[in-house]
Amino acid sequence: MVGDRRRSSLFDFLLFSASLLCLCLAPIPASAHRRKLRFGVDGEFKILQVADMHFANGATTRCLDVLPSQKAHCSDVNTTVFMSRVIAAEKPDLIVFTGDNIFGFDVKDAVKSLNAAFAPAIASKIPWVAILGNHDQESTLTRQELMNHIVKLPNTLSQVNPPEAAHYIDGFGNYNLQIHGAADSSLQNKSVLNLYLLDSGDYSSVPYMEGYDWVKTSQQFWFDRTSKRLQREYNAKPNPQQGMAPGLAYFHIPLPEFWSFDSKNATKGVRQEGTSSASTNSGFFTTMVARGDVKSVFVGHDHVNDFCGKLKGLNLCYGGGFGYHAYGKAGWERRARVVVADLNKKRSGKWGDVKSIRTWKRLDDQHLSVIDAQLLWSNSANVSVVL
Ligand SMILES: *[C@@H]1O[C@H](CO)[C@@H](O)[C@H](O)[C@H]1NC(C)=O
Ligand SMILES: *[C@@H]1O[C@H](CO)[C@@H](O)[C@H](O)[C@H]1NC(C)=O
Ligand SMILES: *[C@@H]1O[C@H](CO)[C@@H](O)[C@H](O)[C@H]1NC(C)=O
Ligand SMILES: *[C@@H]1O[C@H](CO)[C@@H](O)[C@H](O)[C@H]1NC(C)=O
Repeated sequence: MVGDRRRSSLFDFLLFSASLLCLCLAPIPASAHRRKLRFGVDGEFKILQVADMHFANGATTRCLDVLPSQKAHCSDVNTTVFMSRVIAAEKPDLIVFTGDNIFGFDVKDAVKSLNAAFAPAIASKIPWVAILGNHDQESTLTRQELMNHIVKLPNTLSQVNPPEAAHYIDGFGNYNLQIHGAADSSLQNKSVLNLYLLDSGDYSSVPYMEGYDWVKTSQQFWFDRTSKRLQREYNAKPNPQQGMAPGLAYFHIPLPEFWSFDSKNATKGVRQEGTSSASTNSGFFTTMVARGDVKSVFVGHDHVNDFCGKLKGLNLCYGGGFGYHAYGKAGWERRARVVVADLNKKRSGKWGDVKSIRTWKRLDDQHLSVIDAQLLWSNSANVSVVL
């Protein structure tokens, strides 16, 4: 009997080990599976930014600020058609919606409007993410409810908040995305480009500080911790890398530092209105410059500004207004910003770390004109980049 018991406990042990092994090898259930983002075999990763769709109820919602001749046949459907066209033309690896996805004041049902607003991205099967602006919550859902709905939509990598920071972080829609090196390269398991998405809020609720909201201390703390953790992973074995992987930050409301530029000293693009930042400076610009990994910030909010300017090594870029139910400028086309990161090719012929970050814009005209192509960052003084 003793022998039997021993045999059966050995059997139990083997069974236990086998089931552990199975747990490790079992495919992650589809619902929990987050598609890994990585650079393509062409050594590129392309991001399409869609700023300020201001989507409302679809075909019955009229366009703002279009030419008199365009008024009669223009609705939210034009926003949808523009998105489908620009996705087809650019074939991005990721689509980022930087808030005011819907214009709450005119929305009857936030769920319907959100679903319709994101429909072309969902139909494309391309991974996409969204954060909130200051108008998304003005109809039937709160900011938390909006993010709870968004994270359940197909093909999205959006998160309500990072699990490790959910108990202290302000806002809804703060998260990090890691873009891994090319498949079949030594960096295939490392994040070589880090995206930070942040909720820049809506309106201040602090007495004596009226106006738009800002990126709070708790969010900056999370950013700083996350950036440091990502660097530790980047520098760790196997294949330890030097320094930091470059980062990009996306949120809705511009930082006060966007005021530093006009049409003359922006690197590309135009200023046609003021910067509607918070009335107070919460220091996020300083936090990013001090940390050093973020190379460019991308915001929306001010629809007829579409410039990039460089301050203390950090690029500050507007997306330019995308949606037709958003205020704009008649005759000045709705637009979208594209960002491409390119990898270094090593002597072995394999792809390495990120070499450069470029951007341009697409206009909603007949040929989806490309304008304002520019190099935002490169990791060597002598990189010959073809724009
Ligand atoms: C909106 O779409 C309609 C129908 O396709 C088109 O005739 C019109 O020119 C578009 N308006 C704008 C401003 O692009
Ligand atoms: C990356 O991870 C996969 C799966 O764990 C492993 O098979 C592969 O060898 C790793 N590649 C590198 C370059 O570390
Ligand atoms: C750009 O020009 C404006 C107006 O002349 C000036 O106030 C601002 O400091 C300049 N910005 C930079 C970054 O040089
Ligand atoms: C810079 O790049 C050019 C063109 O690729 C090359 O001819 C030149 O030797 C490079 N200079 C340095 C210092 O590496």
